[in-house]
Amino acid sequence: MLKVEGISVRRGGTPVLHDVSLALAPGATLAVVGESGAGKSTLIGAILGLIRCAAGQVTWTDAPAPKCRPALVMQEPRAAFNPHLSLRRSVMEPLAKQASAGDLNRLYRLCDGLELHPDLLDRRPNQVSIGQAQRMGILRALIAKSPLVLFDEPLSALDAATQKHTARLISDMQGQEGFAALIVTHDLGYAAAFADHIAVLRAGRIEEYSAARAFVEAPQTAYGRTLRDAAFSLGALERVA
Ligand SMILES: Nc1ncnc2c1ncn2[C@@H]1O[C@H](COP(=O)(O)OP(=O)(O)OP(=O)(O)O)[C@@H](O)[C@H]1O
Ligand SMILES: [Mg+2]
Repeated sequence: MLKVEGISVRRGGTPVLHDVSLALAPGATLAVVGESGAGKSTLIGAILGLIRCAAGQVTWTDAPAPKCRPALVMQEPRAAFNPHLSLRRSVMEPLAKQASAGDLNRLYRLCDGLELHPDLLDRRPNQVSIGQAQRMGILRALIAKSPLVLFDEPLSALDAATQKHTARLISDMQGQEGFAALIVTHDLGYAAAFADHIAVLRAGRIEEYSAARAFVEAPQTAYGRTLRDAAFSLGALERVA
């Protein structure tokens, strides 16, 4: 169980997160939605222990969260990789020095699932498209077999068909391997279709926390309704049905 208990975070002297609490059970999926600047990436940084909390604590099955080595899919696809290394080296980095035949098998199976030609692995991050780099980030996170994967806008650079396919692959892998997923997304359709719970973050506070279906059917707050209705008007929630 990932537990975020009453964390507050300041950045550059300004409060960014205020008394944020969340829980994520093994194998479960939590979507964190909210407008740009709300503090979503900061929350991920705090969970990873990369950003210091001024108050509160983060634990994973009663151990400090960083000890379980959560895998991260970063929001900026290319910034996630060392520009001087081949994608293959960066992607395989979470594994032991010598990749086993099983690891390579898994690598090529995941490439296939993510529609990434294996030749792309021999390029550097600036030699692939942003959408390909984003899927390389997903590949690296999934290959690590971590019990907790944090996804920061994992589909933002992908076209609609590739988004759908990639969301399905992440969900299938989760079904097979049982990792817990925290997914930051602007896409309420994605959140509603794939998450168990949705947390709405607004100006650094959890404004609403609901089961995904309950959120789509009847948001509890005016802000939640605004987000839900905006998603309906964009057609983003049609995929839920
Ligand atoms: N390095 C930093 N120093 C100071 N303030 C920062 C820093 N990084 C982010 N912030 C501020 O913290 C707040 C939350 O930023 P954060 O990146 O967590 O937002 P977000 O919800 O992930 O937004 P987006 O959807 O645009 O990615 C913003 O007001 C932002 O300006
Ligand atoms: Mg962000």
